[in-house]
Amino acid sequence: AKFTIVDKDTCIACGACGTSAPDIFDYDFEGVAHNIIDDNSGTVEVPEELIEDLEDAFEGCPTESIRVSEESFEGDPNKFK
Ligand code: F3S
Repeated sequence: AKFTIVDKDTCIACGACGTSAPDIFDYDFEGVAHNIIDDNSGTVEVPEELIEDLEDAFEGCPTESIRVSEESFEGDPNKFK
């Protein structure tokens, strides 16, 4: 299982993640990204068919703001840092 969450404090609204993984990430009015699956809490497993998109987004983020873990983030992007 994979969980994901965006660290909104470091996201620079570059817009890459929503292109790589449009079923996982969207942006607020300022362009800052969030995980649409679980309201950016990192608590709901990313569906298997979206894992490849997730990996693309993870690798493509220039600020490492997309966090991926095999455990729930429970709302905290820095839980495993
Ligand atoms: Fe932000 Fe990274 Fe996406 S900077 S818009 S989380 S690719």
